[in-house]
This record gives sequence, structure tokens and C-alpha cells, in this order.
Amino acid sequence: MQRLVIEGENKLTGELVCHGAKNAALPLLAGCVLAKGETALHNCPRLSDVFAACRILSCLGCDCKREADSVLVNTDGLLHFDVPDDLMREMRSSIVFLGAILGRLGKCKLSFPGGCELGPRPIDMHISALKKMGVQINEEHGVLDCSVPSGLVGTNITFSFPSVGATENVILAAATAKGTTVIHNAAREPEITDLANFLNCCGARIANAGESTIVIEGVKELHGCEYSVMPDRIVTATYMSAAAITGGELNITKVRTSDIEAVIPVFEQMGCSVYTYNDNVYINARHGLKAVKTIRTMPYPGFPTDAQATTMAALCKANGTSVIVENIFENRYRQVDELVRMGAKIKTEGKVAIIDGVKRLYGANVRATDLRGGASLVILALAAEGKTEISDIHLIDRGYEMIEKSLSSVGAKIKRV
Ligand code: EPZ
Repeated sequence: MQRLVIEGENKLTGELVCHGAKNAALPLLAGCVLAKGETALHNCPRLSDVFAACRILSCLGCDCKREADSVLVNTDGLLHFDVPDDLMREMRSSIVFLGAILGRLGKCKLSFPGGCELGPRPIDMHISALKKMGVQINEEHGVLDCSVPSGLVGTNITFSFPSVGATENVILAAATAKGTTVIHNAAREPEITDLANFLNCCGARIANAGESTIVIEGVKELHGCEYSVMPDRIVTATYMSAAAITGGELNITKVRTSDIEAVIPVFEQMGCSVYTYNDNVYINARHGLKAVKTIRTMPYPGFPTDAQATTMAALCKANGTSVIVENIFENRYRQVDELVRMGAKIKTEGKVAIIDGVKRLYGANVRATDLRGGASLVILALAAEGKTEISDIHLIDRGYEMIEKSLSSVGAKIKRV
């Protein structure tokens, strides 16, 4: 099994390029199923989750190949409607193929998705919304056998919680449904807007994405197009934590700064200087870190839950006590025990985590518990005395392109063994 080995206490300085967003690329790849002919997705990140989505497309009969930073998909050979169990287990977001396959083929068979264990990952909102659009779903032995004999029908959907995945599934199912679908209390994440922009580029008629009420007017069919995946706002926040904890200075390029408006103030409260200019964000943490009174994770445009673990890591070295409230997932503090092994002082009670900043952190042997938790271990190791070895790093590779290459290019002593 591969491991990351990090020698801590090196300031990070220089320039990092932000890669395309995992959480946009995945629904976009699912969206390709709806489009006849050839689609080119540019700025598509080299991540194991993206590779898994490409394998799902190939299993369905599509032609899917990578050419440098682009993934090319041709759906002329689309034949199958069932997604293999092992691929479904590999990642949670494979559930978003359901809406797209139903939209194109009218039937779909897949098992409950796997992915990070961030607490129960129910799909009740996905199921009830699709049933309202006419889908017949037979659930037994963890397999969803779905069909919509008389075709998907547009309708009004109201979510009790602005679920990102459920919003994406309904948009994908509604794009070629008969009639109009209105989603109330839709997720507002930028990845939703990216999906709507992509589908509109394929000929869909989606209005108001990014707002709480999205209107999708079903069209007959969609055609392929060329589209560039948006920058990854969570990778940006992760790099900012790396600069913060090492007291360094980074310029991060190819960023969409409007997507991190809830993240920047947190780093400013930590005492970092942060400037944005065009698609750059510059962060300077030369003057040490201060604790942040309270960070609450919220649906967009609030502070993103995916940046919680890596921001927590930076706060482990801040002067004072910080409080984090994780409002999105039930069990998103799995990284805490591993951070504590490196000398962090963190106590959790339900949704709340209390972080007492410490002066010294020590390298240790730790293991990634999930994608963002794994990234938080890398962040802490950058500021720990001595050597840290991180195992189970396949979880980190799900969302970060060659993290050791990027960080060593700005001064980190990190290698993959
Ligand atoms: C997406 O997951 C992201 N994944 C997650 O990023 C992100 O943390 C999350 O949105 C919130 O922003 C992808 O986009 C691939 P949700 P998703 O549906 O769609 C509950 C990462 O690290 N819920 O908004 O699964 C659910 O249990 C990953 O990149 C239901 O109860 O998130 C959770 O508590 C992790 N029933 C909350 O809603 C449902 O039917 C938010 O889930 C659906 C969700």
C-alpha cells in the first residue's frame, strides 16, 4: 500500500495551480450520458473518482478517453443501463448517474452508493423526487431497479434539505423530461451552476441554477458539446490551510475567487493576509495564526463542510481556542483521533469540535479516514516536528491530483512511497 512521508516544519512559498473541481466533474460526466454524440470536458482533474466515473461510462457502452487535461465521451454506443456494484461502492456520487441514465434510457439498475463513511449517506430525497417524476423503483437487497415506462414527467419538487446530489439528480432527470420541473429549496453550490451551464450548452433549458428555485423546461434531446470544468474551491481552501499552518506565502492560480467568499474571512480572522486578483488568491501567513471563535459549516454560500477538516488542521497551531460546528454530516470528525496522535488538542461532542491551539506538533504514523480527513493529516504533518507517515492515501487521491507533487513544488518535504 502506498504511503505519504512528510518531514514537517518547512514554510511553503511560491505558486500553485488549482485543478478542476471533482464535485463538478463527476455530475458533468454523468450528464454526458444525456448528450448524443461526442462531448469534451476540459480542465478535468486526474482523480481516482473521475477515473471511476469514466469506467462507469465505459460499462454503459460509451466511449470514454482522456486526452491531456480533457476527457472525451462519445455516447453513440450507449447500450446498458446497469452500473456494476463494485463501481457503485467505490464512490457516493455514482448515484448521480441514476437521473442521467433514466433520462436517456428510461431504466436503470444500480446498488446503493459507497463513498466516505461520513455518517449514514441516505438517498431518500433522491428516491422520493424521482418517484414524483414517474420513476418506478424496486428496492431489494441494496439494489435499485428503476424504470419509467411512460417517460419522465416534469413536476414540482421541494427538498427538506438543499441536498447537492439530489438537486443534481433531479436536474439530470428533468433535462429531457416531458414538461417543466421546478425545484424548491435546491442546493446553491457552484457545482450545481456548473452542471446547469454544461447541460444548457448541450441544449437544455435550465434557469436560475445557483438560486434556491431552479426551473428546468424539458427538451426532446441533448447534443454533445465542449465545456470546461470549474476550478476546485475545496482544493483552493486546502492549499490556503497549507500556507497558513506553515507560516508561508502562496499565490494560488486558476481559482474562481467568487466561490470561496465564505472561506477567505476565516483565514483573515486567523491573521492571514489574503488578496484576490482575477483568478488568483494570494495568502500570506507570516505573522502566526490566531484562533477563530466559531466556524459553522453550512450549505452554500455558507462555509463549506468539505473545507472543515483542513481548516481544523490549520487551527491546531493557532494561538487560542477555536470552535467548529459541523452542521452537514453526522460523522465528519473521523480525522480528529489521527490529528490528536500528532499532538493536536481537540475535543468533540456531537456536532461541536473544540480546538486548543498548541505550539508543537509531532510527526507520527497516521492513516487517512476519508478524503478530506486524509488531507487534514497532510496539512498538520507540514507543521509537525520530524517525520509523519500517512497510510490509506488512496482516499486522498480521490480528490487531490498528485498532492505530493503540488506541495513539494512550493517547499514541502513530502514524498509518496
Ligand atoms: C456532495 O455530497 C459532495 N460530493 C460532498 O463532497 C459534499 O460534502 C456535500 O455535497 C455537501 O456539500 C459530491 O459532490 C460528489 P448532500 P452529497 O446530498 O451530494 C443528507 C467531498 O469531500 N442527505 O448535500 O452526498 C446527507 O446524509 C464530498 O468532496 C439525506 O439525508 O451531499 C448529508 O447529511 C464529501 N438524504 C446532507 O444531506 C438524501 O437523500 C448533505 O448531503 C441526500 C442527502
